[in-house]
Amino acid sequence: PELFQPERPNSRGFDLRHEPTLDAIEAARAPFATQSWQAGPILAGKSDPQPPEKVENPADPADTPGTVAFASRKDVETALAAATPWDAPAAERAAILGKVADLYEENYGEIFAILHREAGKSIPDAVAELREAVDFLRYYAANAPEGDPVGVFTCISPWNFPLAIFTGQIAAALAAGNAVLSKPAEQTPLIAHLGISLMHRAGVPKTACQLLPGAGEVGAWLTSNGRVGGVAFTGSTDTALKIRKAMAEHLRPGAPLIAETGGLNAMIVDSTALPEQAVQAIVESAFQSAGQRCSALRCLYVQEDIADDFTEMLTGAMDALVVGTPWNLPTDCGPVIDEEARAGIADHIQAARAEGRLMHELKTPNAGTYIAPTLIKVNGIADLEREIFGPVLHLATYRARDLDRVIGAINATGYGLTFGLMTRIDDRVQHVTEAVHAGNIYVNRNQIGAIVGSQPFGGEGMSGTGPKAGGPHYLARFQAHPAPQEGA
Ligand code: NAD
Ligand code: ALA
Repeated sequence: PELFQPERPNSRGFDLRHEPTLDAIEAARAPFATQSWQAGPILAGKSDPQPPEKVENPADPADTPGTVAFASRKDVETALAAATPWDAPAAERAAILGKVADLYEENYGEIFAILHREAGKSIPDAVAELREAVDFLRYYAANAPEGDPVGVFTCISPWNFPLAIFTGQIAAALAAGNAVLSKPAEQTPLIAHLGISLMHRAGVPKTACQLLPGAGEVGAWLTSNGRVGGVAFTGSTDTALKIRKAMAEHLRPGAPLIAETGGLNAMIVDSTALPEQAVQAIVESAFQSAGQRCSALRCLYVQEDIADDFTEMLTGAMDALVVGTPWNLPTDCGPVIDEEARAGIADHIQAARAEGRLMHELKTPNAGTYIAPTLIKVNGIADLEREIFGPVLHLATYRARDLDRVIGAINATGYGLTFGLMTRIDDRVQHVTEAVHAGNIYVNRNQIGAIVGSQPFGGEGMSGTGPKAGGPHYLARFQAHPAPQEGA
């Protein structure tokens, strides 16, 4: 298809080097610094009120950003009965989604306050998150297709991009005219509640977009009812497999599942790489967002010849990272999402310590669910038994003649989300990027932060079904009879 050329380019975001901009962000956020929000189901029908539960602030156990009432089984049935595909012309849907993008941008102070207090987002991460959400809205709006929707789409999202991914799935389903039943992650219902409220304020009909907060159980109900025509899911590979099973049993054959899942992402640094550039890219890829990005670097391969000096530079750069309260501009690494996540990552680090494989770690703040950036020695990526979703980097060395074996080991994980390569040899770029199986490959830069429209994002193998989000083929999966696409 013709590549989309947006009339309005990607959201400009905020320039955090500009003092007046920082002051404006602070002034917009301040009124919400101690507010308490209440989230719950938003239905096109009467809800069945459940007792509210406390929403936690991962950086500060003393803070309560709000409460959430999870959806009941009855709420799911009410939502399913009321769900009606959005039959407005594509141009009208596009205009309303564009208005949602404008409302997101106007309400940045409240959005940043919630992202900070509910999800532990740092200032740059909150800015990037809002930008990406707005980009998804405008990109899918500008490409809103005429033609039949699938019908009712269940959208299930993770907590790590609680606005961007949540909004992206919904915007795509709505742009194609579907009715959406959205199930945000249990850890981040407040931002989801605000997002859906802004969608309704912009003119998205309630029957076309309902919110059902809850734990995995609510997601399971929403993926095992024959009225559901398709599912968009982002989260762990294990959950995607459960959803695929539920869909096979309960949904019509051929109901689309668009799943974006986990990864065991690697980077190779050879002896020709510029070390300063590589170290910066590694630190960003492994530790930004406290490593809680599906794209984050998990296993670094450094060519043996440079490994000692390079590791010294890397650990030196780690020492310069600021770990702590997220809403503080110098902070590089904030908390992980909750105590369960913290304990799981801490166990992994403890096992490495016990085996004498801990290469470097930083000091962890006392209160809050923090894990400080950590470097662990491994023989190779095969030593990583699962995705460790936090600021933990594993390092292996390799001999130049073993490069193809390293590529083989990376491919043998079965995952294929992101991959990074640092080299100054053009032939090697060609060879390695052709041989590695990964959805998004980055050369001589960091491997996080794909930009909607110009860097469609998604993995292969156990990392996702495709099509890539923020790319030209994505919307077709939300349509019953998409127009044939060249190369789709
Ligand atoms: P998760 O799989 O635990 O949860 C994701 C969502 O699925 C949540 O809303 C959860 O409530 C819901 N869920 C849980 N069990 C369910 C069930 N049986 N049926 C239906 N829904 C169910 O993942 P998470 O911990 O929230 O997110 C982290 C994971 O997400 C990591 O593996 C990360 O790599 C992945 N991720 C992938 C991408 C990508 O684009 N590939 C992006 C972000 C996150
Ligand atoms: N799109 C996000 C990134 O590239 C997941 O980091």
